Amino acid sequence: MLAKYDSWIYLQNVTVKEILSNSDFYADLLARNKVLGFVELRPNRRQHEEILVSLMRGEGDRSFGPIWDVTHPHLENVLPNMPDDFLVGHWHADNTVWEESPTITSMHMHTWTGEKGKGNTVLVDCQKLYEKCPSHLRDYLQDLMLLHRSGSNDPETGELAKGAVHPALRTHSVTGGTSLFYTGPECDPVDGETELFNEYKTWLNGTQVDGALYDQENQIQWEWSEGDLLIWDNSCMVHGFLGGWKYGERVFDKLEGQWAKPEYSS
Ligand SMILES: [Fe+2]
Repeated sequence: MLAKYDSWIYLQNVTVKEILSNSDFYADLLARNKVLGFVELRPNRRQHEEILVSLMRGEGDRSFGPIWDVTHPHLENVLPNMPDDFLVGHWHADNTVWEESPTITSMHMHTWTGEKGKGNTVLVDCQKLYEKCPSHLRDYLQDLMLLHRSGSNDPETGELAKGAVHPALRTHSVTGGTSLFYTGPECDPVDGETELFNEYKTWLNGTQVDGALYDQENQIQWEWSEGDLLIWDNSCMVHGFLGGWKYGERVFDKLEGQWAKPEYSS
């Protein structure tokens, strides 16, 4: 566990009952720190849902969508050869391909039999990256609109979703803070690529040595123990995960909740 990150919240010996009866406290922690990790909490599915709803604040409805027993089956054949640097090209925020996207993402790693330190979930706070972003790029992003075109299928047509247009910056619905609103290489300016946007993407992705997303000072890495519950603010974080595990060793329940339309007001 990388504890050096100043927004880190690593919560041990907390019970489901304590979270539900002090939800204002934990919702405030989530708003300020963007991530909450409950070590070996082992909620049942009903409790997992109750915790998620209890932490919802700000804009967006209070619904959520469960995805039980996520195994990443598309990775089964590539996992044995997948390098630990799987994050290259796989940074994303969840489900930004729709007009409304989830504000909170929650993962309960109910099965983890891999080696400690492998398969970490890696998160980057895009509010902090906004503060670090070179000023000429921040100026450029003020009025920019991006097409998010990540590869989800439209449930009604079964065909690749056409994507959604969102502002390049986002105002947080609880804190009012500004973040970059980015979902990896799957988003581009609606009016086509520009030199400045390529400069922005290079500043973010660069290489694993020099891109802001790969600077460990900007990352939170969660090293999984079986039963951990990890909750993060999907409105202002991007995430990915590391390799180094075998198919079937890493199985989790995921909830995505409080869907809202991304907004930016300067
Ligand atoms: Fe994700």
